Amino acid sequence: MNFLELAKARYSVRSFKKDDIEESKLNDILEAGRVAPSACNKQPQKIFVVKSEEARAKLASVCRFTFDAPVVLVVCYDKERSWQNDLMPGYNSGETDAAIVCTHMMLEAWEQGISSCWVGWFNADEIAKALSLPENFCVCSLLPIGYATDDAAPTKLHTRIREFDDTIAFM
Ligand SMILES: Cc1cc2nc3c(=O)[nH]c(=O)nc-3n(C[C@H](O)[C@H](O)[C@H](O)COP(=O)(O)O)c2cc1C
Repeated sequence: MNFLELAKARYSVRSFKKDDIEESKLNDILEAGRVAPSACNKQPQKIFVVKSEEARAKLASVCRFTFDAPVVLVVCYDKERSWQNDLMPGYNSGETDAAIVCTHMMLEAWEQGISSCWVGWFNADEIAKALSLPENFCVCSLLPIGYATDDAAPTKLHTRIREFDDTIAFM
């Protein structure tokens, strides 16, 4: 499968088997995030790999979109490392950098036969508190990952893609 085929084939999976993810696959997924580009190469990301029963339960108590996945990647950036754009005071590229990392991991996971769902509906402070994260980390996204159950299928939203000319303008 080439890259465009993979990007089109991937869809959000919201039900996972209990099976563990092989360590080598998990490492490749994390490695794909590690090499993501970032503003000024600051690499402000920090990924908390939530695997233990205890940590997964804490996370599930503050976010109902963990889907009982065997692993949830909590994608954060470090406020003290992220790039500040002095042409736009107050702008901080941490969220953008973390989103690129999360995208790399999501697509590498699919390449490995591991499904995921990007989750953004949570209260970041509640997650930080539940997992006792250090104060300088901002939680940007959750990525529950694992093997999809046999009945997993794309939702209608997956195929609701805006037309080429609607989202792209040549100038
Ligand atoms: C920034 C972002 C936040 C999202 N938050 C959630 C979420 O909280 N819960 C959920 O079930 N799906 C969430 N999704 C998944 C989207 O609903 C999904 O990607 C979109 O409907 C397209 O479907 P597809 O991923 O199957 O192609 C999120 C996706 C993105 C990119």
